[in-house]
Amino acid sequence: MGNRAIKPATKALRGELVIPGDKSVSHRSVMLASLGDTPVHITNFLPSADCLSTIGVMEALGAQVEKVSDTELVVKGNGLHGLKEPATILDAGNSGTTLRLMMGMLAPQKFPSIFTGDASLHKRPMGRVINPLRQMGANIVGRAENTKLPIAIVPTEENLRGFTYVMPVASAQVKSAILLAGLFAEGETTVVEPYPSRNHTELMLEAFGVELRREDNRISLSAPEKLTAPQELPVPGDISSAAFWLVAASVIPDSELLLKNVGINETRTGIIDVLRDMGADITITNEHKSGGESVADILVKYSKLHGTSFGADIIPRLVDEIPAIAVAAMFADGDTVITGAGELRVKETDRIEAIYAQFSKLGGNIEAREDGLVIHGGNQFRSAECFSYDDHRMAMSLAVAGLAGAGVEITNADCVDISYPTFYDELTNLIK
Ligand code: S3P
Repeated sequence: MGNRAIKPATKALRGELVIPGDKSVSHRSVMLASLGDTPVHITNFLPSADCLSTIGVMEALGAQVEKVSDTELVVKGNGLHGLKEPATILDAGNSGTTLRLMMGMLAPQKFPSIFTGDASLHKRPMGRVINPLRQMGANIVGRAENTKLPIAIVPTEENLRGFTYVMPVASAQVKSAILLAGLFAEGETTVVEPYPSRNHTELMLEAFGVELRREDNRISLSAPEKLTAPQELPVPGDISSAAFWLVAASVIPDSELLLKNVGINETRTGIIDVLRDMGADITITNEHKSGGESVADILVKYSKLHGTSFGADIIPRLVDEIPAIAVAAMFADGDTVITGAGELRVKETDRIEAIYAQFSKLGGNIEAREDGLVIHGGNQFRSAECFSYDDHRMAMSLAVAGLAGAGVEITNADCVDISYPTFYDELTNLIK
């Protein structure tokens, strides 16, 4: 795993960046296209390690995936009931989305499947998906009392039964797993979320002709006869990748970046709300719909930021952006208080601990709380060697902190490939 040295920026960040495809939408595009029976042309697909894990799993289940280019695929499935018994163990790599959503899709099938993944994924909690699937009648087992990888699904004679699941945590992955299982279950399947999480699964199911009933935080569906695949499926740019540039341009004096083709689905735009609360200068232009999702260009200009507070209700709308927001908070005046963010402890790494331990080395003044962080702004920055924990979003946040501060040497820096393989190239272009 390579290291990467980032020097402090010697000039403002200026120009345009086209933001690569959304990771969540890319996963779902291949999964749902694999349940159709006509070819789906997927454009602006994110060719990152996580999404390639999903392609590998869907191919093992019989989907045909033609790679027209890195970002363009034609995926053809064998129909809603046409998944094939995999001949191999299904490897989700580092990808929680691949594993959790595919547990939902495979629990109802009449063949066995076995899942594995990398060291990080083996530590992450899977009981949150296994338990409700078992309540639907699935025979699914995992290590550590059905909470961890490796995980095996054994087919049952009876079909799964739809039910109402009141989710204890706001998680799009859990919600999506249950809805995907519901595509094959008898009766109605309902999920009730404590707070709205990203709704890409719902939007894409609708684009595939599935009727959903959506009311407040409650989503229901019944098994359709088939999925009617759209011919074209464009993936919006990933706001979670744009996040690093939103923060970098906000904190590096005189910067001005135009981020093109960014998905602005309102279940994902918490970072814009929080940065604006902190005084950021962000303008949304050229707003339009693309494949059922809202997309726009985002203009961000340097602005003096100040601290803010936010909690549980907004966390699902910015859950992946907290490392980036923590960087903004270090450069802001005053304190930023983040609560209700206990989910950060079970991401690719424990991000509360990682933010505290690594950003403190760069001069950040940070307190880690059980379910959040207090970040005191207005720091004196210094350069240090910082560990990514093999967590892509930690590596990119450290890069932005080093760029805006006094530099950083990131160990295990290559993990950006998980969601943003061209991140360092973009950064190099911006500062040359
Ligand atoms: C995702 C949901 C979120 C997010 C992850 C992607 C998805 O996870 O952190 O990066 O694609 O559904 P949770 O559902 O665990 O909050």
